[in-house]
Amino acid sequence: MTYVVTEACIKCKYTDCVEVCPVDCFYEGDNMLVIHPEECIDCGVCEPECPADAIKADTEPGLEKWLVLNARFAAVWPNISNKKEPPADAEEFQGAEGKFDQFFSDSPGPGG
Ligand code: SF4
Ligand code: F3S
Repeated sequence: MTYVVTEACIKCKYTDCVEVCPVDCFYEGDNMLVIHPEECIDCGVCEPECPADAIKADTEPGLEKWLVLNARFAAVWPNISNKKEPPADAEEFQGAEGKFDQFFSDSPGPGG
């Protein structure tokens, strides 16, 4: 199994998760992060750290789309291992519906 980052991260990108990951397996896109499924050691410590509740264990139902997306973009986006300032409008988008359709970007984060 692995943990996966889901839609709730989009435009929130708080990055509290990267601070606690013992194996630095987060990768940064323009407006969300993903977890590399083969690097994640399933420790689970990142899950409760996300203020947006965006991180889920892949044993939860309905996450197939996010598993594919995490694997795909972890292969091409740059690694992120230090917490950074979230977007200024992050709180506005916390819990918002339909963020994938409206805002998902396949562009790499600033380190890419
Ligand atoms: Fe990192 Fe553990 Fe979260 Fe996997 S479950 S991304 S290893 S903190
Ligand atoms: Fe995203 Fe939550 Fe991490 S919003 S960047 S998964 S702390």
